[in-house]
Amino acid sequence: MDNNLLVPEQEPDRQYYYMDEMKKLVLEKSREAGRTLTYNVTTFGCQMNAHDSEKLKGILEACGFEETGEEDGADFVLLNTCTIRENANTRLYGHLGQLKAIKRGRPDMVIALCGCMMQEPHVIEAIKNKYRHVDVVFGTFNIYKLAELLYKYYVNRERVIEVLETHAGAVEALPQKRKFGFKAGVNIMYGCNNFCTYCIVPYVRGRETSRTPEEIMNEVRLLVKSGVKEIMLLGQNVNSYGIAGGDIGGFTGMSFPELIKMVAEEPGVERLRFMTSHPKDLSDELIEVIRTHENICRHIHLPVQSGSNDVLKKMNRRYTKESYLALVDRIRKAVPDISLTTDIIVGFPGETEEDFLDTLDVVERVKYDQAFTFIYSKRTGTPAASYEDQVDEAVIKDRFDRLLDKVNTIAHREMKRFEGRVCDVLVEEKNRQEEGLVTGRTSENVTVHFKEEASLIGSTVKVLMKEAKGFYYMGERVD
Ligand code: SAH
Ligand code: SF4
Ligand code: F3S
Repeated sequence: MDNNLLVPEQEPDRQYYYMDEMKKLVLEKSREAGRTLTYNVTTFGCQMNAHDSEKLKGILEACGFEETGEEDGADFVLLNTCTIRENANTRLYGHLGQLKAIKRGRPDMVIALCGCMMQEPHVIEAIKNKYRHVDVVFGTFNIYKLAELLYKYYVNRERVIEVLETHAGAVEALPQKRKFGFKAGVNIMYGCNNFCTYCIVPYVRGRETSRTPEEIMNEVRLLVKSGVKEIMLLGQNVNSYGIAGGDIGGFTGMSFPELIKMVAEEPGVERLRFMTSHPKDLSDELIEVIRTHENICRHIHLPVQSGSNDVLKKMNRRYTKESYLALVDRIRKAVPDISLTTDIIVGFPGETEEDFLDTLDVVERVKYDQAFTFIYSKRTGTPAASYEDQVDEAVIKDRFDRLLDKVNTIAHREMKRFEGRVCDVLVEEKNRQEEGLVTGRTSENVTVHFKEEASLIGSTVKVLMKEAKGFYYMGERVD
């Protein structure tokens, strides 16, 4: 397809070569069209997925495309998929149906799919057979190759499908287009080794692999230099950073508490967050690092999933209700004001009313500031999918409503504890509903709206937390 002698074999040179080639191609097509070719990327999944989208956008811009907010009118449409629950898949197929109709009227539109759902063989089969209007497909392990795959497609005009099985050979030093100028995610590890029995992530994201501290620190320094104030360290289970072996790195010689301490002490890192923590590996050492570093945000997302020891065991979570509550106590003793949030699954196979009451009990005791509640979704290929005692839908619905009720009542009550306090708030955006207001977040991740100019976006200011309104605050700047 191209002069192979010219194509570098080494990465990332190879990808930069393809970005240049794509740029020539896109320029030529833009000239023909009398306008710059556009792209649109939709993210369906979690923070990790959203961060992947930033990398994909960076590559697309290096290829000469311009971003458009309108998917319908874009020349290149990319859907970055998620498969954590069944409804994520249903949504994607619905979306593809709509795109089919649009593409009929605009045959030049190029449609690409990537992300976690593409790592499932049955999905690839369905796309091959039923969704012929999809032009390019790749998975979670080769997003770095977007320019190469696109070049192949644009030159040959034949469908390109490339899904890999491991992270081996993946490259990092590629462009990124970040959503915000003042906050940024930094991957510290990829994949998951925990195999919770309901979860598909280990199958679609592979084994845990950690980036080296040098790589991470280089990225952090570059971000700080470019004006980033808040950094979020990303991984499915950040607490096992550096421990597990893997495709791109084995033992990095550093634990998560050591790493986060190093990042927190880097000059210019105003705020530091991390996501997600598995309760079984959250160490006292980490709690101590949080306690002694003011710039580590006072918020931990600590998914509990269930309060029942039987269910936790069947989920393979490897902690008990008691050990989870004891961990919460240790965290609260060290950092009393900390905000704790969680994820809960309702209707895991075999969940009894008694099990469910244990979950409600944990919610009452921990008093989460927010809890994301999910109805158990059967994922093909996971152990729990073949458990026989799946819970009746009506029972699940009833439990879900009761849980939501409890979670909201407690969260609203807990939110009030900040009333009358003055907090440091990082201004993030213009208020979407009301002109003249901006929206920011406290260290505890509480959202507050207050009167201020949009020019303040990206700055940290002191805000009086005047009135709690459910999950958010109305405030007033006081500095
Ligand atoms: N790595 C994170 C979670 C990533 S998935 C952790 O272990 O904490 C985000 C959340 O989706 C999970 O915490 C869980 O509550 C939910 N989830 C995962 N698989 C699910 C399934 N099959 N059905 C319903 N919810 C699920
Ligand atoms: Fe899924 Fe469990 Fe891994 Fe989280 S820790 S990604 S829930 S397998
Ligand atoms: Fe979804 Fe993949 Fe994240 S399945 S939740 S996008 S890791």
